[in-house]
Amino acid sequence: MNTEPIGESSRAAHGPEGGGNHARGRGDLAATPLLRVEGLTKHFPILRGILRRQVGAVKAVDGVDFHIQEGETLGLVGESGCGKSTAGRVILRLGEATAGRIWYRGEDITLLKGKPLRSLRRRMQMVFQDPQESLNPRMTVGSIVGEPLLEHGVAKGRALAERVGALLESVGLAPNYANRYPHEFSGGQRQRIGMARALALRPEFIICDEPIAALDVSIQAQVVNLLEDLRERLNLTYLFISHDLAMVRHIADRVAVMYLGKIVELAPVRDLYGNPRHPYTQALLSAAPGHDPRVEARRERILLQGDVPSPAAPPPGCRFNTRCPKAQALCSEQEPAWREVRGGHSVACHFAEG
Ligand SMILES: Nc1ncnc2c1ncn2[C@@H]1O[C@H](COP(=O)(O)OP(=O)(O)OP(=O)(O)O)[C@@H](O)[C@H]1O
Ligand code: SF4
Ligand SMILES: [Mg+2]
Repeated sequence: MNTEPIGESSRAAHGPEGGGNHARGRGDLAATPLLRVEGLTKHFPILRGILRRQVGAVKAVDGVDFHIQEGETLGLVGESGCGKSTAGRVILRLGEATAGRIWYRGEDITLLKGKPLRSLRRRMQMVFQDPQESLNPRMTVGSIVGEPLLEHGVAKGRALAERVGALLESVGLAPNYANRYPHEFSGGQRQRIGMARALALRPEFIICDEPIAALDVSIQAQVVNLLEDLRERLNLTYLFISHDLAMVRHIADRVAVMYLGKIVELAPVRDLYGNPRHPYTQALLSAAPGHDPRVEARRERILLQGDVPSPAAPPPGCRFNTRCPKAQALCSEQEPAWREVRGGHSVACHFAEG
C-alpha cells in the first residue's frame, strides 16, 4: 500500500484515525472517510459574443455531499448529462471546483497544487468508459502501462519492464502483450490494459466511469469480476459510475442517485433497491430490467414525462418537479432539504415519507 504523504499537512491525517487499513468499510461511520465532498459544485460558464461575456452557466454539479469509507464502493447513478463524470473529474482535480470542498483522508485537497497535488494523483486514478479513446494507438501496451511509472520516476529499464509484466498479469493479460498495440486487442482486453495503467502507481482510490458501458454484454461481467477481485486484493476504494442499476447493485455497498447536478437519494444498496424513497429513484428502478422473474412479474413501470431540463436553467424548487408523478404545488416553490430518513439513508424530497 502506498504510504507516501500527500503533503506536509497530510502527515497528521495518517495518524491512528485516518491511516487505518481496516477491512471493507460498509457503514463504518466512526473512521475518517477516505474521501468526503461537501457542497461540491462545478459550473461551466456559457460565453457569448466577441467579448466572450458570460451569459450563464451549465450547472453540471450543483452542491453535492457524500463520503466514501476506505475499502467501500459507492455507486453513482443517473441519466446522461446529470453530472456524474464532471463530479468524478473534479474530485480527481482534473478540473477546478467552482465551490465546495474535497477532503482526502481528512486533508482538504480542494486547492492542492504543485508537488503535493502530483503526489495525490498517484493515489487516485480513473478508469474510463471507452478503452479505445483512452489508449494512445501509437504506443505499445508496454509504454502505455509503464508511462505513469516513468513519469513519476518510479521505475525504468529492466525494473520497468518487469513491473509492466506484473501489472499485465494482475489484470489477466500475458506479460508479452507489452510489445503489441491497442488495436490488436478486443474491447474487454483494452479495458484491462486501461486498468493495468490505472494500477501502475498503486493507487488507493479509483473512479470507474462507466467502465463496462462500451463492452459486449458477454464480457461485462468478467470485467466487473476483475474489478471486484482487484478491490479485494489491493484494498481499493471505488466510486463506480454507471447507468446499469443491476450492475451497481451487484458491486456497490451504497448508491447515490443523481439528477440534474444534485444527489437526490443515497442509501445502502439494500435500502435503495428495496425501499427507494425518491420518486426519481423509484422511476429509474421501475425502468431497469432486473434478474429476478418474480420481481419482474410484479414490476410496474413508472414512465417519466418529458425530457431532463437543461442544467443551464434548472427548474425552481425541486429540480425534478417538471417530471415528477408525485409533484405538488410546494415542489416548484421550495427546494426540498437533504435529510436522513433512516440510518444512512438520505433523500431530498418533500414527500419522502408518503
Ligand atoms: N467541459 C464542459 N464544458 C461545458 N459543459 C460541460 C463540460 N463538460 C460537461 N458539461 C456539461 O455538464 C453536464 C454534465 O455532464 P457530465 O458529462 O458530467 O454528465 P454524465 O452524468 O457523466 O453523463 P453521461 O452519463 O452521458 O456520461 C452536461 O450538461 C454536459 O453537457
Ligand atoms: S419534492 Fe416534489 S417534485 Fe421533488 S421529488 Fe419530491 S414529490 Fe417530486
Ligand atoms: Mg459521464
